[in-house]
Amino acid sequence: MTYIPKTYDQIDQWNSLMFIYNSALKQMNVKIEVLNSEFVHIYSYNPIEHVKSRLKTPESIVKKLKRMGCEVNTFNMTEKLNDVAGVRIICSFTSDIYQIADMISRQADITVLYVKDYIKNPKPNGYKSYHMVVTIPVYLTEGPVETKVEIQIRTVAMDFWASLEHKMYYKLGGDAPEFLQKELKACADVVDMLDAKMYSLNESILQWNAQEEKRRAEEGTASPTGNAEAAAGSSLTENTEISVCEFPEKAAE
Ligand code: GTP
Ligand code: MG
Repeated sequence: MTYIPKTYDQIDQWNSLMFIYNSALKQMNVKIEVLNSEFVHIYSYNPIEHVKSRLKTPESIVKKLKRMGCEVNTFNMTEKLNDVAGVRIICSFTSDIYQIADMISRQADITVLYVKDYIKNPKPNGYKSYHMVVTIPVYLTEGPVETKVEIQIRTVAMDFWASLEHKMYYKLGGDAPEFLQKELKACADVVDMLDAKMYSLNESILQWNAQEEKRRAEEGTASPTGNAEAAAGSSLTENTEISVCEFPEKAAE
C-alpha cells in the first residue's frame, strides 16, 4: 500500500489507514456475498455458511510489530503485516473451500499475494484452514489503493476445532501440557473424519434426490416440495445470511 499522505502526522496516518483497511473489508464482504448469491442463483446451492471479518486492534498491531523486531510505525504496519484486515469464510464442505478460493482468485481486481494451504499441509497441532493474502483496490478520490486482506477459509468443523484451540492457547498462555495437545490433535483427526463423512453423506443425498426427481418426472408426479430448486438439491441447504461479525485473534498475534 503506497497511499499514506506524507503531510499527515502519525495519528492522522493511522486513522486514514484504518479507514482504508475497513473499506477493503467492506468491499471484500460484498464480493463474497455476491459470489454466494450467484452460486445460489445458478446451482441452487450455497457454499458459504457464514462470514466473519475483523480489523486488527491497535494493541495487536503494536504487539506483533514488536514481536517481529520492527519499529512501530504506519509504514511497517502496511509493509510487514498482512492481516490488519481479515475475513473468515466458513463453509460446509472441504470441496466448497477450494471452489470459493478459486472464485475469489479469478476476480480481475484481486491479486493473490500468497496462499497457505493448511488443509493439504495441516500444522503439527492439527490446525486446518486455507489462507490467502490478497490485495483489493479501494477507490479513493486520489485513485485506487491496493490494500491487503487476509482470507481464511475453513469448514464448520475446522472452525469449531480452531476456536477451541484458540481458547486453550489463550487460557494457557501458549503453553499447553502435552496431554492436552495430544487430545486436541486427536480431535483434529475426528474433525477430518467428520468432514469426510459429511461430504460423502451430502453426495449420497444429492444423488438420491436427483434419482427421485427423475423417477417422478418419468411418472409425471410432482416433487413433494413442488419446486425446481428441490430438484437441484437446495432443499439440503438454507440461504446464507452473511453477517459481518468479529472473530477473535490468536493471543500471540
Ligand atoms: P500470524 O503471525 O499468527 O498471523 O501467522 P502468520 O503470519 O505466519 O500466518 P498464518 O497464515 O500461519 O496464520 C494466520 C492466522 O491463522 C493466525 O493469525 C490465526 O488467526 C490463524 N491460525 C494460524 N495457526 C493457527 C493455529 O494453530 N490455531 C488457531 N486457532 N489459529 C491459527
Ligand atoms: Mg494473524
